[in-house]
Amino acid sequence: MELIYEKSKPGRRAGRIPRPDLPVAPVPDALRRTSPPRLPEVSEPELVRHFTALADRNFGIDTGFYPLGSCTMKHNPRVNERVVNLPGFRDLHPLQEDEGAQGALDLMWRLEQYLIEMTGLPGISLQPAAGSQGELTGLMLMRAYFADRGEGEQRDTIITADTAHGTNPASVTMAGYKLEKVATDGRGNLDLDDLRAKVNEHTAGLMLTNPSTLGLFDEGIEQVAEIFHGAGALLYYDGANLNAVVGKSRPGDMGFDIVHINLHKTFSQPHGGGGPGGGPIAVRDTIEPYLPVPRVVRDGDTFRLDRDRPKSIGRVRGFAGPFGVFVRSYAFMRAYGPSLQEMSEVAVLNANYLLARLRAAYELPYGRLCMHEFVLSARQLKKEHGVSALDIAKRLMDFDIHPPTIYFPLVVPEALMIEPTETETKERLDHFVDVMLQIAREAADSPELLQDAPHSRPVRRLDEVRAAKQQIVRHSFGASPTASAKG
Ligand SMILES: Cc1ncc(COP(=O)(O)O)c(C=O)c1O
Repeated sequence: MELIYEKSKPGRRAGRIPRPDLPVAPVPDALRRTSPPRLPEVSEPELVRHFTALADRNFGIDTGFYPLGSCTMKHNPRVNERVVNLPGFRDLHPLQEDEGAQGALDLMWRLEQYLIEMTGLPGISLQPAAGSQGELTGLMLMRAYFADRGEGEQRDTIITADTAHGTNPASVTMAGYKLEKVATDGRGNLDLDDLRAKVNEHTAGLMLTNPSTLGLFDEGIEQVAEIFHGAGALLYYDGANLNAVVGKSRPGDMGFDIVHINLHKTFSQPHGGGGPGGGPIAVRDTIEPYLPVPRVVRDGDTFRLDRDRPKSIGRVRGFAGPFGVFVRSYAFMRAYGPSLQEMSEVAVLNANYLLARLRAAYELPYGRLCMHEFVLSARQLKKEHGVSALDIAKRLMDFDIHPPTIYFPLVVPEALMIEPTETETKERLDHFVDVMLQIAREAADSPELLQDAPHSRPVRRLDEVRAAKQQIVRHSFGASPTASAKG
């Protein structure tokens, strides 16, 4: 497809700048351009066609099945967009004083109450803008808590699972902690013997997601909590997988002290492609004094932002947090009401349905009932037919299906991590299974079909390393021959 600059012809215009109603302000000579800007010159229909063609090449949850494990690509109800665009929410200035922002503060306070109920932990901050920022904030809270107890220097290590999402070790390092990994046992739980050998007076805490990235609920979670609390350490819950357990089990009841919730995964946002997101954190009362400011406070029937918290770690984000995300998540919760529990039940049911239909054709490393997602392995297909998880992922694109997450978690070779979510119909799930079964047959009969896939996309296999390391993000007007992308 030609770039818009390659379609450009001098003198063509898609629109005209309206004549100003006011006198034109003089521009000082020194600030005037000496040559016109190099903008593409195209007619309006060509402009519209260009961007429509680009948009048609996009893939998203609105165009097809998107079972990207760990990322929870669920439908974003359209009514939420309507609500978030109500002028009272949309046009509110972030510096509006509390008296003029009562509705917004009320919504934030109510959202907090729901999250307190769902996590089983009493203190909350809506500030972090993503799960990963919630993780970093949670670790900063641990730091503040131990520093206050005179154990700040002594407790310098955080333990994570070897199945942990990459943001966990990254957050640990960013927060200045040492990282130690605990192994996964044969059933997919944390290895308790390994854990006992590693937890000691230097341990600040554990970071764990439950269900894990294997899609398995840790059967030893109560013992895990005892081991850490017994050593005076804390437990951090990576709530990215909360979609599996809303109304079913609560991190606070499992023994966790600090939790983040990925609002964009559990309570829907149009979050494909990197945003927007929300990563509120909920904490036990012993950690509450350190939560970020400002906090939303209710005094009778009025609400205010409280900045006067002497032990707070301070701000972690501008203003009060990602407000549009709050409105959508609150609308989502209100629409579901008590059947939020059903949402999680169906997410788990859908995943188990896929698992049951696929387990004969693909290797299943941990043969238990799964939660909202599960991990298959293409190891056997690779050994027997030279077909990898990447080949399977690429072939799925020929059937208008977004590939699942691959090569994660790291403990499963040739991993395919599949998360259907609760918003898919049985027909959609069956179609996915039929395609996956066809691909397994193709692996045996004509492996080259998979190794060369995708066959039907505008671009075939990309050099992903080069694409990441040598990004061309602007047109260089002929300076670089590689900049002209005729793909
Ligand atoms: C298990 C897990 N933890 C943490 C995160 C980080 O969340 P975010 O993408 O909102 O930063 C993710 C995101 O995919 C995740 O899957």
